[in-house]
Amino acid sequence: MAFALSYSLCFLLILLQLLSFSTMAPQTYKNISLGSSLIAQENNSFWASPSGEFSFGFQNIGNDGFLLAIWFNKIPERTIVWSANGNSLVQRGSTVELTSDGQLLLIDIATGKEISVASSAGTGVTHAAMLDSGNFVLANQNSISLWESFNRPTDTILPTQTLGQGSILYAPYAKTNYSKGRFLLTLQSDGNFVFYTTYFPLDSPNVHYWYTETEGSGFEVIFNQSGSIYVTAQNGSILYVLSSNDVNAVSTQDYYQRATLDYDGVFRPYIYPKSNSSIERAWSTLVFTPPNICTSVLEITGGGACGFNSLCRNDDLEGPTCQCPYGYNFTDPNDLLKGCKQEFVSQSCEEASQKTDLFYLHEMRSTDWATSANYEYFQPVTEDWCRQSCLGDCFCDIAFYSDQICWKKSIPLSNGRIDRSSDWKALVKIRNQNSSSRITGADSGKKDNSALILQGLVFLISSSLFLFLCLIATCLLVYRIYHRIAKVSKLYPTIEGVNLRCFTYMELKEATDGFKNELGHGAFATVFKGVLRMIRSSKPKRAQLAEQNYRNLIQLLGFCNEGQHRILVYELMSNGTLASFLFGEKQIALGIARGLLYLHEDCSSQIIHCDIKPENVLLDDTFTARIADFGLAKLLGTDQTRTITAIRGTKGYVAPEWFKALPITVKVDVYSYGILLLEIICCRKNFEVEATDENEMILADWAYDCYNQRKLHLLLDGDDEAMDDIRKVEKCVMTALWCIQQDPSLRPTMKDVTQMLEGTVEISIPPNPSFS
Ligand SMILES: *[C@@H]1O[C@H](CO)[C@@H](O)[C@H](O)[C@H]1NC(C)=O
Ligand SMILES: *[C@@H]1O[C@H](CO)[C@@H](O)[C@H](O)[C@H]1NC(C)=O
Ligand SMILES: *[C@@H]1O[C@H](CO)[C@@H](O)[C@H](O)[C@H]1NC(C)=O
Ligand SMILES: *[C@@H]1O[C@H](CO)[C@@H](O)[C@H](O)[C@H]1NC(C)=O
Ligand SMILES: *[C@@H]1O[C@H](CO)[C@@H](O)[C@H](O)[C@H]1NC(C)=O
Ligand SMILES: *[C@@H]1O[C@H](CO)[C@@H](O)[C@H](O)[C@H]1NC(C)=O
Ligand SMILES: *[C@@H]1O[C@H](CO)[C@@H](O)[C@H](O)[C@H]1NC(C)=O
Ligand SMILES: *[C@@H]1O[C@H](CO)[C@@H](O)[C@H](O)[C@H]1NC(C)=O
Repeated sequence: MAFALSYSLCFLLILLQLLSFSTMAPQTYKNISLGSSLIAQENNSFWASPSGEFSFGFQNIGNDGFLLAIWFNKIPERTIVWSANGNSLVQRGSTVELTSDGQLLLIDIATGKEISVASSAGTGVTHAAMLDSGNFVLANQNSISLWESFNRPTDTILPTQTLGQGSILYAPYAKTNYSKGRFLLTLQSDGNFVFYTTYFPLDSPNVHYWYTETEGSGFEVIFNQSGSIYVTAQNGSILYVLSSNDVNAVSTQDYYQRATLDYDGVFRPYIYPKSNSSIERAWSTLVFTPPNICTSVLEITGGGACGFNSLCRNDDLEGPTCQCPYGYNFTDPNDLLKGCKQEFVSQSCEEASQKTDLFYLHEMRSTDWATSANYEYFQPVTEDWCRQSCLGDCFCDIAFYSDQICWKKSIPLSNGRIDRSSDWKALVKIRNQNSSSRITGADSGKKDNSALILQGLVFLISSSLFLFLCLIATCLLVYRIYHRIAKVSKLYPTIEGVNLRCFTYMELKEATDGFKNELGHGAFATVFKGVLRMIRSSKPKRAQLAEQNYRNLIQLLGFCNEGQHRILVYELMSNGTLASFLFGEKQIALGIARGLLYLHEDCSSQIIHCDIKPENVLLDDTFTARIADFGLAKLLGTDQTRTITAIRGTKGYVAPEWFKALPITVKVDVYSYGILLLEIICCRKNFEVEATDENEMILADWAYDCYNQRKLHLLLDGDDEAMDDIRKVEKCVMTALWCIQQDPSLRPTMKDVTQMLEGTVEISIPPNPSFS
């Protein structure tokens, strides 16, 4: 309402100003006579001011069309200070014409539409002129201005220009998009000089973010000859100085000057050296109004200075920059004020109620979305309680915790800013990158959902001391892995020990519905499927650990140790085991190799898995292979590279040294891996009693024969896809044959294996594995 009123006042004031201008000192007029016109075309036609410093005419804006504008004509940037049609560029061939009755008409060639840029018809206009001040005028025969571009500013004011009450500057939409943007400033009819956000795409004001508090006395905003900007009262006294120039340092003689409400909502006075000798020829500024827009803008509706879900960071030299919180990305990379979107599919309420590890909370400090509505509030609670509450609540996209207080908010978040003074810890909910139900089709949605519920459960039947030691060994392994994670990510500096949960037997009994759903059993354990209601949170962020090979190991979630009940709880891999998905892609083979390499070399203690076989390789939703079942794993001391131990493993995959009472090294895993690799390549079991040809019964022998006789295609059993890439197949077979050498010292290390598979090393011709 107040705004509409100021428009009508503005009209009166402009008329008043016309009178005052007529008394100004005469300027050099380079007359543009009635009937003159300009055509929008590449080799810019324009009307220049007598000094040539300013021009009026068409500027080509990228490939989007032409803008009728005034610009600094002597600098390479040709910086635009005024424009007529920012909201609707015109096409090549359009014209602007000073009509015989004194109107300035823009004629769009594409639509034939006539836009009246300046209408002073009937007031006796005899000519137009581009003045050296940057003001374009229509004047009468006494050279009295009847229309001035200075009275219709767009986003910029120039020295000698004033803003009367009701004047408005609109920020452009973007650096090179001159349509009205998201901010405006105005000297209100009440005298206050106020900056507003707009109800974009409407240009009406939304919320003010800066003002001079000069209501009742403010009369004009003056950009004076020497480059100072201030608000004056009617009697000429200065009420508020926005920017004061040291005339001796920066004079209008040596510098071009302008003050612009930039697209980011900051009003900046700029200077540009006129002389060529100056080192830096560019627009520069040091004064920002407001000084920190990130903390100034507080919209009740709307996204704030940087748009929804984004974070505004103020830089003392550059002003505001917009960024997205972790897990979010710009809605439009070319329009950073448009806010950020989640890079993942939001949590569904089913997912939330199941409380799996599909989501985690990313911790951010010094960030604030304080004005976003909180829909829930809790006090007094612990941080862990707050985390659990958010993870288990599909409405919660971000939680804030500080000093026993927990807030919950949902997207879109508004007025985000980096605020170092904030004590709040923001916890942003993010989907684990490689979890299921990512941006997959609707058809996979249902399957994913069921997969999410499931948690693996290893139920150890026996309670021998050995098994307990294995449990400890496994825990140690997992501890080490997590220890690394904590170091690498630095995200959870206060990671409390390991993320292992101690389950009660009753909990697990309930989760498995009385151990009903058996998935399979091995030498020492039976595996059941179950659904867990509660999982300890503060999971390390997986995405960040992409380079860590630990991801090729299955994740242990917790354990139960109550009397004779010794149970390990693992995450369930929804794609089943490799045994049930045996067609080989090199990536899976490589994934397993990396997992083993990690165990063999990257752990601070060497670990021999001892039982590599298809059943112990699980595939997650992205078909990333993970090694499971450390039930038989052997932990070697730091200086120990070999060990004597009783035979372990599964027939068919065990290395020959097991049978020869020889010392066991990591090479036993390499052997098992070689067999596994052959199975992946040939898509069959290691040992097939029912094989039609006796020679084909033992895969290892058959594979070598095929390789030796250059008949690899026989191994592929008509798999066209693999046939197409026989070179790759051959490399894999050669690698596998090296792995299954009788003599452990001939076998490559897992590091060699990964390099062979990656193709970074040459593979020499493998000898027959059956002899040594
Ligand atoms: C400028 O444009 C006109 C009309 O399109 C053309 O005739 C002329 O050759 C152009 N001049 C240059 C220097 O490109
Ligand atoms: C500009 O036009 C006005 C009115 O037609 C005339 O009085 C004045 O002398 C002209 N100025 C120049 C520099 O031609
Ligand atoms: C400028 O931005 C507005 C608002 O998003 C858009 O509608 C218009 O197409 C843009 N103009 C150009 C030339 O890109
Ligand atoms: C000018 O106007 C301002 C505000 O209206 C007032 O505070 C000040 O005293 C006046 N100064 C003079 C010299 O009249
Ligand atoms: C412009 O304003 C500044 C600061 O108020 C003042 O020092 C300077 O004399 C003014 N210059 C002119 C030309 O009025
Ligand atoms: C700057 O240099 C260019 C060419 O080097 C020359 O055309 C121009 O007149 C110079 N401008 C000034 C202000 O010295
Ligand atoms: C964000 O989006 C851009 C462009 O779409 C893309 O290149 C970039 O990788 C994305 N960033 C993240 C973190 O996803
Ligand atoms: C997630 O999957 C992608 C491709 O499937 C893979 O490149 C990336 O390394 C995986 N990240 C983790 C943490 O497993």
